[in-house]
Amino acid sequence: LNQYPLALLLVGRKVLVVGGGHLAQRCTSALVEAGAAVTVVSPSLTPALEVLPIAWLRRRFRSSDVDDTWLVHAATGRPEVDTLVAAAAEERRVFCVQADDRYPATAVRVGSGSARPTAHDFGRRGGVALIGAGPGDPELITVKGRRLLAEADVVVADRLASGLLLDGLRQDVELIDAAKVPYGRQLSQQKINELLVDRALAGKFVARLKGGDPYIFGRGGEELAACVEAGIAVEVVPGVTSAISVPALVGIPITHRGMTHEFTVVSGHLPPSHPDSLVDWGALGRLRGTLVLLMAVRNLAAITARLIIAGRDPATPAAIIQDGSTSRERIYRGTLADISTLGAVPPAVIVIGDVAKILPVPLPSLPSPSPTIQKQSAADQG
Ligand SMILES: C[S@@+](CC[C@H](N)C(=O)[O-])C[C@H]1O[C@@H](n2cnc3c(N)ncnc32)[C@H](O)[C@@H]1O
Repeated sequence: LNQYPLALLLVGRKVLVVGGGHLAQRCTSALVEAGAAVTVVSPSLTPALEVLPIAWLRRRFRSSDVDDTWLVHAATGRPEVDTLVAAAAEERRVFCVQADDRYPATAVRVGSGSARPTAHDFGRRGGVALIGAGPGDPELITVKGRRLLAEADVVVADRLASGLLLDGLRQDVELIDAAKVPYGRQLSQQKINELLVDRALAGKFVARLKGGDPYIFGRGGEELAACVEAGIAVEVVPGVTSAISVPALVGIPITHRGMTHEFTVVSGHLPPSHPDSLVDWGALGRLRGTLVLLMAVRNLAAITARLIIAGRDPATPAAIIQDGSTSRERIYRGTLADISTLGAVPPAVIVIGDVAKILPVPLPSLPSPSPTIQKQSAADQG
């Protein structure tokens, strides 16, 4: 059948996703990023779905779930159930996307041409690519990262990897959820290493998609070492780290001529008093340059207090960028003394230093018809 391609503006519109597994995860992340009001109906959810801002009906599908929705995704992975969902939608004249139908038509979104690339086409067997996915905006992956992602037989993805990148994967790609939900459900690092090695030894080409850059607090080194030890071909594709790009996107350059000659990126996942902490917080408090903190929201009060005791001026400008580069982005501005009290939640990048208030904000942005559609269509062009 001839098809009529459409891109939908779904901001605030009710969308129903039936299914809570990996198929559903792909489309749900993308729908949330497009601003849809998503309800997922499924007895269970993947860890990555659990942390998305969605409504969850924890049960099996009922035909009446389709009432009053604009769009339905049938993504249970069971064709007989998806067909029932599609029939209920058809009866109510609601458009329904069946996961099985959709992917052949949209596979070109991730690839660089109109053909569906496969590992076989590229002669690439039994290897691993550790790919930096960038901070969240699907356009901030590198060209090479995107190409290798399109070639993968297996994708092992972090929670911070963009949903839109996953949504464009071919139907036959095995998607493994390595969601590292802070203080929540996690696949252990040991298990992730084993999966990479296991799939590669089985002759698969594995894309390990990691938020930001694989080596910036990303355990890329451990995964690379596991592959090398198992004799597996492995390639690292550096990514755009959130430490630099997330501040940059909101008008905070982490260096600025005449203001700072250094920047330091620090993990704040342990409080300064913790016996396992490897950070010299006293030395950092005596620095004049820019301090960028990752994974520090939970310990921010203890960290800022320690920096002030060590000599950093409490009036030093500070900013927190939460969910940077995504549609959920939020910015908090303050000083070293009060930045921990402003209510930010992870994931967030914290910038401390004069650069936090050097440029005028908000930045005048380039005109675009709609940010959601613009992101989507640019991805479509490959
Ligand atoms: C485990 S570290 C991984 C960092 C990643 N490898 C990178 O280079 O960006 C996760 C932390 O990165 C930061 N982060 C990553 N993406 C972010 C985003 N889109 N917005 C704000 N912070 C982000 C947060 O501090 C988060 O807790």
